[in-house]
Amino acid sequence: MTKTLKEYLKEVKEKGIAIGHFNISNIEAIHGIYNAAKKLSLPVVIGVSEGEESFIGRDEVACLIKMLRERDNYPIFLNGDHHYTFESVKNAIDAGYDSVIIDGAKLSIEENIKTAKQCVEYARQKSKETGHETLIEGELGFIGQSSKLLDKMPDGVSEETMTKPEDAKYFVEQTGIDLIAPSVGNIHGMIKTGNPKLDIDRIKNICDSCGIPLVLHGGSGISDKDFKEAIKAGISMIHINTEIRVAYKQALEKSLKENPDEIAPYKLIEPAVEAIENIVEKRLKLFSNL
Ligand code: G3H
Ligand code: ZN
Repeated sequence: MTKTLKEYLKEVKEKGIAIGHFNISNIEAIHGIYNAAKKLSLPVVIGVSEGEESFIGRDEVACLIKMLRERDNYPIFLNGDHHYTFESVKNAIDAGYDSVIIDGAKLSIEENIKTAKQCVEYARQKSKETGHETLIEGELGFIGQSSKLLDKMPDGVSEETMTKPEDAKYFVEQTGIDLIAPSVGNIHGMIKTGNPKLDIDRIKNICDSCGIPLVLHGGSGISDKDFKEAIKAGISMIHINTEIRVAYKQALEKSLKENPDEIAPYKLIEPAVEAIENIVEKRLKLFSNL
């Protein structure tokens, strides 16, 4: 049997690399991501936000990822990305996800702790019953909410909303979360003129004070140099979404334009799946120093 996500998170930390996490909203995107991961023999995490999950189907995606992992004995995992309420996290745990993020970044730290703690308690109890562990990720510090192309920094994001190492330590101690997503200069989405630089010292300080794996959200638009420094400073997993969405749309538009008489979806969509595969392969190589 393949190792668990928790075991892979420990392993990447020791190796000084990071696991790639890629969002999807349709089944064919899984093929693009899975093909790229298999080509490189690397573990991979598929993410579905609440919106993506409701389109693809919670149980459908959970069954599919579990089936691929078991059939191929391959480390492919499913994360419930940015779930905003205990109910929504509970549903993902009940569906058998491998991890879920309770995103309380917009709440006060007390409210964020309260909800995250409730999710952790439920996940632990459920894992005792089923034998399947769902990791809980907490989010502290605001980085915006949409994976899209932006003209400027997302509203509400500033130096003030970055995560303080001492708050992160307190948050982890109070909640018992397994992973933490901090705000360290990263933003959701990609600014057309370029994303800001990451605060590498802050990543290092949060990593030293928390003692649990750090997840870097908002990976699209970050420079290769920043990715490398962030991993060195302690990042164990990196999320990419906007880059995939852009590549998918551009490839699909081109395909539709070049084949005006084609009506078979699998022929029209194939180049879009290949575009996803290329992005994922490039990112996985970078995150694993290949
Ligand atoms: O949770 C999803 C990610 O943080 C994706 O961010 O769209 O900026 O790549 P991104
Ligand atoms: Zn995110």
